[in-house]
Amino acid sequence: MQAPIVTISQLGSHEGQSVTIRGWLYNLRESGKLLFPIIRDGSGLVQGVVVKSKVAPEVWDALKGLTQESALVISGQVRADKRAPGGYELEVETAEVVQRVSESDPYPITLKEHGVDFLMEHRHLWMRSPRQVAILRTRAEIINSVRDYLNQNGYTLADPPILTPAACEGTTTLFPVDYFEEQAFLTQSGQLYNEAAAMALGKVYSFGPTFRAEKSKTRRHLTEFWMVEPEVAYYTLDDIMELAENFVTYIVKRCLDRRRADLEIMGRDLGPLEKIDTPFPRISYDDAVAMLHEGHAKGELESKFEYGNDFGSPDETYISSKFERPLMVHRYPAAVKAFYMEPDASDPTKALCVDVLAPEGYGEIIGGSQRVSSYELLLERIHQHQLPEEAFRWYLDLRKFGGVPHSGFGMGIERAVAWICGLEHVRETIPFPRMLNRMYP
Ligand code: 4AD
Ligand code: MG
Repeated sequence: MQAPIVTISQLGSHEGQSVTIRGWLYNLRESGKLLFPIIRDGSGLVQGVVVKSKVAPEVWDALKGLTQESALVISGQVRADKRAPGGYELEVETAEVVQRVSESDPYPITLKEHGVDFLMEHRHLWMRSPRQVAILRTRAEIINSVRDYLNQNGYTLADPPILTPAACEGTTTLFPVDYFEEQAFLTQSGQLYNEAAAMALGKVYSFGPTFRAEKSKTRRHLTEFWMVEPEVAYYTLDDIMELAENFVTYIVKRCLDRRRADLEIMGRDLGPLEKIDTPFPRISYDDAVAMLHEGHAKGELESKFEYGNDFGSPDETYISSKFERPLMVHRYPAAVKAFYMEPDASDPTKALCVDVLAPEGYGEIIGGSQRVSSYELLLERIHQHQLPEEAFRWYLDLRKFGGVPHSGFGMGIERAVAWICGLEHVRETIPFPRMLNRMYP
């Protein structure tokens, strides 16, 4: 009878028993009459010990010289070993090779260093490496914690469409789609539809892929990314800022709690993450500009920031480097922000909006605002931004029939993953990244 099938992560509860693991050969060390195969199965790594005199000759022959990434089913007794990576070793009894990788066409990603271009071109295989697996598991944890937080706090999931007739976040980053000879676009954000849903359900959120034909090649931009967007009727800017800090803190604590081992595999310095807690510091755009000007005067910033512009990556990095918690910058000039943002009553040149900047130089992870609630002002904005009024009729209706103050934000999952995992580039935050002019694979 075959020993019970378990995953490597479950070995701890089978000490002293014989078990079967189904996985792939990660590495093999040979030493005379001993073999030390390291097996991976997606849940972890375990080292096997094969003693020539203790296994059948065909088992020895199958494992000796076995090539990297060959698929195998292996059985043996679980033994605790403090020096072993996961704390356990497998004393191999039997093994069956399911597919042997050919010597003449070996697995291209060896355990030595490879350039990032090479790795990206082999993304479908690179995903298997322990570090990438740890990142993808943490991404899944972040997504689960996003859903859990909102589901447990009274939000209803509403699924906005992906094919849309009009722009939400500016007309320069739209991906056109031919929709039965009509022009349509891939969605940039579910927000406008979420606003309709919030008027129906009160507290809603969407979570799904969003698209931007970003012309900029940066370490923060993808053309296809996943966004979570809560939207709440009767919420003001202050309410949405409070939601943002509670939400982000919950996600970080969940990762520290449940994905600590994965963060350690990535070499993430946990110190800065341990410091994340509410409340987050809040500063106005004007205060942030004053910091940038001071930084320039002190010679810490090369060029002088021009008041009225949106912040670039170096500006965000500089401002947020002064804080250990995510920083909430509010009330940007309305002129650099989206058409739907409510102006600040005490200074209508400013929008009631907020960007949450992650610490350690990771920049904007959240963008949100209070939305225009007046029909007349919204119509004026649609005209100012030269948006097609016809396509926004339904959106204007929301202000005609029970229009109320309401607010929401969007958090880019990949930006959050890059920050929490401490990654240099968003390309490693998603299984198959789409970037300027490129898809892998
Ligand atoms: O600031 P953004 O453009 O805001 C909106 O789309 C709003 N409609 C959201 C809302 O209020 N419901 O985008 C929100 C977040 C950014 O803070 C960033 O994290 C992420 O989406 N994001 C991107 N992530 C990766 N690649 C890109 N090209 C991104 N553009 C935005
Ligand atoms: Mg933004």
